[in-house]
Amino acid sequence: MSDAEVRDDHADEERYRELAASARALVAGEHDRIANAANLSALVYHGLPGLNWVGFYFYDGTELVVGPFQGRPACVRIGLDRGVCGAAARTGRTQRVADVHAVPDHIACDPLSRSELVVPLIHEDTLIGVFDLDSPDLDRFGPVDQRGLEEIASIYLTSIAEGRD
Ligand code: SME
Repeated sequence: MSDAEVRDDHADEERYRELAASARALVAGEHDRIANAANLSALVYHGLPGLNWVGFYFYDGTELVVGPFQGRPACVRIGLDRGVCGAAARTGRTQRVADVHAVPDHIACDPLSRSELVVPLIHEDTLIGVFDLDSPDLDRFGPVDQRGLEEIASIYLTSIAEGRD
């Protein structure tokens, strides 16, 4: 049986509702982009099963540079023309990869990673960076995970945008 077949969408949706509520509480009143990225990485890494890396890459105007994360040390700089993170940043679309071994330009920071989800962080047409999750399990991320993690990314963007005024 594949991982996709054993997904329990209802339970997962409930888990993401709780995770989003915790995320909102965690960033409430705080606008610092490093602080909120650090705490959201920790919240998600410890709140969801089957992950080996959760974190942020920030766009420095040229490339993606690693930010706060949980997991093993990662690649520091990623060009927008490279890997799954680069594709998310370049296209502005979430990349959900069931098997990273099937993606020719996937950047293997950790050889244990088998599936990946990368959400672009875009605020008012400006690329801020990406929110990246890796799993040692094949096909770990389904549509419910994508929606749930896009919501976490959106909570992050709202939290740091409020500090810009
Ligand atoms: N696998 C990513 C690189 C980042 S690490 O997974 C933390 C990619 O191909 O973009």
